Amino acid sequence: MNRRRFLGAGAAVLGAGALGTFAVPAAARLLAEGRPGRLLRSEVPLPDPFEVPLPVPAVLAPVRSDATADYYEITQRVAALEILPGLRTEAWTYGGTYPGPTLSVRSGRRTVVSHRNELPVPTVVHLHGGHTPADSDGYPVDLLLPVGSSGDHLAAHGAGHPMAGMAGMAGMDVDEDTARIVTGTRDYTYPGHQRAATLWYHDHRMSFTGPAIWRGLTGFHLLHDDEEDALPLPRGERDLPLMLADRAFAADGSFAYPATDPDLAVPGVTDDYMNGVLGDVVLVNGAPWPRAEVDRARYRLRLLNASNARLYRLELDPQPSGGDALVQIGGDGGLLEEPIAHDAVEIAPAERFDLVVDFSRYPPGTEVRLMNRFGGGRTEEVMLFEVGSRRVSDDSAVPERLCTLERLDPEAAVATRVFGFRRSRDGDWTINNQLYRPGRAIARPELGSTEIWRFFSDVHHPVHVHLNSFQVLSRNGGDPGPYDEGWKDTVDLRPAEAVEVLVRFTDHPGSYMLHCHNLEHEDMAMMADFVVE
Ligand code: C2O
Ligand code: CU
Ligand code: CU
Repeated sequence: MNRRRFLGAGAAVLGAGALGTFAVPAAARLLAEGRPGRLLRSEVPLPDPFEVPLPVPAVLAPVRSDATADYYEITQRVAALEILPGLRTEAWTYGGTYPGPTLSVRSGRRTVVSHRNELPVPTVVHLHGGHTPADSDGYPVDLLLPVGSSGDHLAAHGAGHPMAGMAGMAGMDVDEDTARIVTGTRDYTYPGHQRAATLWYHDHRMSFTGPAIWRGLTGFHLLHDDEEDALPLPRGERDLPLMLADRAFAADGSFAYPATDPDLAVPGVTDDYMNGVLGDVVLVNGAPWPRAEVDRARYRLRLLNASNARLYRLELDPQPSGGDALVQIGGDGGLLEEPIAHDAVEIAPAERFDLVVDFSRYPPGTEVRLMNRFGGGRTEEVMLFEVGSRRVSDDSAVPERLCTLERLDPEAAVATRVFGFRRSRDGDWTINNQLYRPGRAIARPELGSTEIWRFFSDVHHPVHVHLNSFQVLSRNGGDPGPYDEGWKDTVDLRPAEAVEVLVRFTDHPGSYMLHCHNLEHEDMAMMADFVVE
């Protein structure tokens, strides 16, 4: 797309006013860099694909429960894991595993997770997709300092101050009340007033989310409710959460990451990787190109893209005759109204797709590869399903109608706000030309109100809003795309695109985040606060 067409597309959607407010960037140069990320190659030989069995993260048991709540404990610690066969990788983990343990909770019940930090760095836990009070949302300067840490110890490690080394903002201060800092353990409380959905929890420390997630700080958080349980969807062993993440490994087996400072005292990646870090190994639930034996039956696959920057276009190979292999039943915010059959799905960082695949459409013994058509070389393959030959029973079904969704009404919107996700002339990732600064609100929506938020991009940006899910209203002034159905909390903007979403701010006042979920963009300040009041 040349500059003129870029302007044309932008102007058509944004109107002259919006373009007047935000100077159009050097579009041609930025579009040339439209590829989200750069490949980091491993320094170790890579294993053959489809040899490691697919692991399924263990479900965490509560330490206690009462009439209204379930209490969990997770210790964040360093653990030596065997991710590539025969190689030892030191990971930062929730509870000693990668992915961390799965929380499986009921809607309507309160969940309290007590996190204890035994890592060498401060952390912040965010429940992605959670409808969470602000003090438990994982605001990026609400640090949980390591057990036993003193100010001196942290200062020596450059992490004594939440603002230490913030990209492009060195020396800036955070207000004492902006950062709620504790040492050792913190309880995160999730009220559970939201519908069944596939959520995930991950680190969210300001400027260091990319390396922290890369080293392992992610896990599933599954919410269940009666409405969904009443449906005949595949369940039990035929309900598989699949966390996709690409990684690269250094010669000593550690996770390779192109941080400017290997000790992570100073944030950021080397210039080459500004646009995002891609690995050459595809992990599913922490295993490289795994294989799963499946029955000739329906399976529910809860796909999560937990990669820092990689986009996937997922497709089964071979396709069953008749196509439409991937039947989408849900997205980020739970069930869709009606299933949508796809041949392929495109999934950006942090998005979730809840799919049903009927493996009985394949002859017994078929080896079905899950492919990534956006990948190249080894990253074109994701995992293998080996379809069993025994006769099995399957009483699951995908109903024509899954639920009734409330449609937010654009007429009810009391404000339209525009957020430009772009790289500045200085090479920083910005929202509305501003670098992230904790405590500075970019928007102040009123509690209970509905607004239209219009995002536009230069290069690819998966845009994520905390607190409330949203509904996609339009793309480039036209209809939403094929992957925009239902409630979402992350929407992928392609280069030079404008996407409008409808969002209603409910239940919780306070300070929340809006950011790009390409983690290198996020860490390099493509983030903003909004305050619900
Ligand atoms: Cu998954 Cu603010 O993040
Ligand atoms: Cu989030
Ligand atoms: Cu981005």
